[in-house]
Amino acid sequence: MKITVIGTGYVGLVSGACFADVGNAVLCLDTDERKIELLNAGRIPIFEPGLDALVVHNMAAGRLMFTADYDTAVAHADLIFLCVGTPPEEDGSADLAHILSAVRNIGRRVQRPTILVNKSTVPVGTAERVKRVIEEELGARGAHIDFTVVSNPEFLKEGAAIENFMRPDRIVVGSDDPHATAIMRRLYAPFSRNHEKLVEMDVRSAELTKYGANAMLATRISFMNELANLAETLGADIEQVRRGIGSDPRIGPDYLYAGMGYGGSCFPKDVKALLKTSADHGQDLRILDAIEAVNASQRNILFKKIARFFKGADQLAGKTIALWGLSFKPNTDDVREAPSLALIGELFAANCRVQAYDPVAGIEARRVLLREHGEARCQTLFRMANSAAAAVEGADVLAIATEWKEFRSPDFSFLAAALRHRAIFDGRNLYDPQFVASFGLVYHGIGRAAPMGRQ
Ligand code: UDX
Repeated sequence: MKITVIGTGYVGLVSGACFADVGNAVLCLDTDERKIELLNAGRIPIFEPGLDALVVHNMAAGRLMFTADYDTAVAHADLIFLCVGTPPEEDGSADLAHILSAVRNIGRRVQRPTILVNKSTVPVGTAERVKRVIEEELGARGAHIDFTVVSNPEFLKEGAAIENFMRPDRIVVGSDDPHATAIMRRLYAPFSRNHEKLVEMDVRSAELTKYGANAMLATRISFMNELANLAETLGADIEQVRRGIGSDPRIGPDYLYAGMGYGGSCFPKDVKALLKTSADHGQDLRILDAIEAVNASQRNILFKKIARFFKGADQLAGKTIALWGLSFKPNTDDVREAPSLALIGELFAANCRVQAYDPVAGIEARRVLLREHGEARCQTLFRMANSAAAAVEGADVLAIATEWKEFRSPDFSFLAAALRHRAIFDGRNLYDPQFVASFGLVYHGIGRAAPMGRQ
């Protein structure tokens, strides 16, 4: 099939490369000409395992192309995917400016029957709005062209996006047109081989499914974070409780990890957007309010523990905290809504120095920190180390904000010797508290009873 993908961000690039890989002719458009130049030179602007090889391979095979020109992009295909960003507005609602501008550009140029597939996360009712905009544009030039808008939300997880796309759990297709549904079924057949993965529904239900799925996962995380804090008070261990809960097949083991609260580009934004949608329709989704509030307070949990350890935030001035992990989760350089940045912000406010290390997100994190805290503050309080061991040198305590593989089995004897106050604040519950304590280190996890080891 001939496919055009509008937007070469995370979702657009992964979808375009994966569709090309199974034999489709895919043209990706982005209005950012510099990005298109980079892509045409085989350079990938985001970090995602396997993506660069997939893009380069399919470009070389002539199945994956890039352009900044709408005329070429719209003329190329009869199936156009919208994969543009829908960033949050001040009030939490999704900003549809990129969607509406893309749709006008398509409506002005389209010459033949076309299916417009929306992959961006958009509020319920957006497909109808998109259709109206296209009809307006067609009407303005007196054109009569068959046009269908399909909703096909994306459930990709950063760091596992190619695998998620190639072997999806389910493919949600919201369509009110049987012909469009049949084409979508054919398009996705290579990704749905062993059993039918397509879940067909009406457009509005598909739009709500995306928000519902992310909000459900966020609910599990916030619930576990609250339970973890209770476990701590009660002298129980949330890691043991998690295994006990997750082995019930009705619950399942995933998204039950207590930590520093959810971050990333989806959960925080989608929970807020769903809250805004419900408020706009006169409904008060109290459970979502609670999920958000719990997450906001959980983002400060490590700071609170560190401050308590030093007997008050005012005692932190002049201390040095080693910080392992900056990205919001492993295998990505994405730091959007990363708990590490919330922690650094609080440490800076307490005039505490941070020596950070991250396997890939260092450059991106420094860029965001400079923007948020300014050159002078970063100069005095922040240093990027080029290894996990270097971050620890001369530090008082160690904090861990991302569960990168390379942090899973550190040399605890080295840490005990290097850390002035011999304490580890583990925001991801990576270690066995008793094992860590056996090295003479004080271990503070999340929801793990009393701190282990010498105080
Ligand atoms: C998520 C959804 O999983 C994906 O389906 C959707 O398309 C986009 O949003 P992503 O943001 O890439 O994907 O990351 P994910 O792995 O789901 O983690 C989100 C956040 O939740 C991270 O901050 C992670 O650390 C946190 N998390 C996840 C927990 O705190 N505990 C868990 O048990 C799982």
